[in-house]
Amino acid sequence: MSGRVRVPGDKSISHRALMLGALAAGRTHITGLLESEDVRSTAKALQALGAPVRKVARGWEVLGRGVGGLTEPVSDIDCGNSGTGLRLMMGMVAGHAVRVRFVGDPSLSRRPMGRVLDPLTRMGIEVEEVGRTTLPLTLRGTHDLMPIEYATPVASAQIKSAVLLAGLHASGATTVVERQATRDHTERMLRHFGARLTVAERAGARAITVAGDAELEARAVHVPGDPSSAAFLVSAALIVPGSEITIQGVLVNATRMGFYVTLAEMGADILLRNEREEGGEPVADIQVRPARLKGVRVPPERAPSMIDEYPVLACLAAYAEGETRMEGLAELRVKESDRLAATVAGLTANGVPAKVEGDVLIVGGRSAGAGVRGGGTVATHLDHRIAMAFLTLGLGADRPVTVDDANTIATSFPEFRSLMERLGATLSVPAAVC
Ligand code: S3P
Repeated sequence: MSGRVRVPGDKSISHRALMLGALAAGRTHITGLLESEDVRSTAKALQALGAPVRKVARGWEVLGRGVGGLTEPVSDIDCGNSGTGLRLMMGMVAGHAVRVRFVGDPSLSRRPMGRVLDPLTRMGIEVEEVGRTTLPLTLRGTHDLMPIEYATPVASAQIKSAVLLAGLHASGATTVVERQATRDHTERMLRHFGARLTVAERAGARAITVAGDAELEARAVHVPGDPSSAAFLVSAALIVPGSEITIQGVLVNATRMGFYVTLAEMGADILLRNEREEGGEPVADIQVRPARLKGVRVPPERAPSMIDEYPVLACLAAYAEGETRMEGLAELRVKESDRLAATVAGLTANGVPAKVEGDVLIVGGRSAGAGVRGGGTVATHLDHRIAMAFLTLGLGADRPVTVDDANTIATSFPEFRSLMERLGATLSVPAAVC
């Protein structure tokens, strides 16, 4: 695999740019926005809430309505496959006196929403389906949102962000306390749009406070390349002999770098070049060459900074010498699929020893000189990252790896196939599926 490419815009930042654009007064112009199914679901939802989003000559434009200025949608808001879109939007509508019914695809409809409904009901929203914590859910927001202090029960940027977005509309300061730092794009972007936000250290935890009755002003936003999408290309180059690739303009925010830290420990040959700041976020060009990888222990405290990268790391671990132990992964059970189960099933189907013990994922590496068998078909369970991780596994395997559904890849990385092919990989649709 060889060449220089760019990956599409970061998914987390893209959702946030659209949402804060909708809450700001004026026109927000966004360049580099990820044009994937998940982000389209958010754009459509904002339209339905009264904030038009449109493609313009160089990027996207959101016509913001000001904090508290969204309107009641006439029909259901369909968040598709996107947990981020849904959970952040629940926080965003909380401070409006509107009734909104949220729906999603079968994957999203299985995921737990109690984690955001709990703080938002404390702030004053009502949920019509009393006691329900999965979609479909109907929320009634209020202009009289109460500010709260909330310690997140699990490390989750989505919970943190939902509360902070609701806090913009509250009548006082809202604080979220997180024991483990999670991705900080909401904090950065809130500041960028003019919100008053402070971050303090409190007994080893991070306390983030946003002032209520906020006013946000439209701003230009540039979305850097998604490091979670880049992870698949990086992994491919690490396992295909003779590769050398460079991925330009990738976000290298420390709260997202756990995968790259782990690769360095495994012995990967990765260089960050041309480190710079773009639109308030650090970016770099990532250069990768294959290397002899060794199995490692990935500590639980690293999980928040690489939460979306475990499926592909597990596939990469199949090529390492010795066992890889990934600890503290309970949250993987409630992602787009149960990623612990889906990853173990996929590895097993391809001849790679793998198991789960509690919240620890263990992948047996290969012995020196031996290959990865491959040849299996992987069930993706509507999970884009399971599909991409196992297609990547197949690039180095003795026999091709098949995934049962590649359509889901469009939720986060529609250019996955074309970029992989541009770098030299061969991906094909099996005759039986054509
Ligand atoms: C995201 C947070 C993470 C991550 C998801 C994107 C975000 O979810 O898995 O893909 O943009 O805030 P959790 O907050 O549930 O860990």
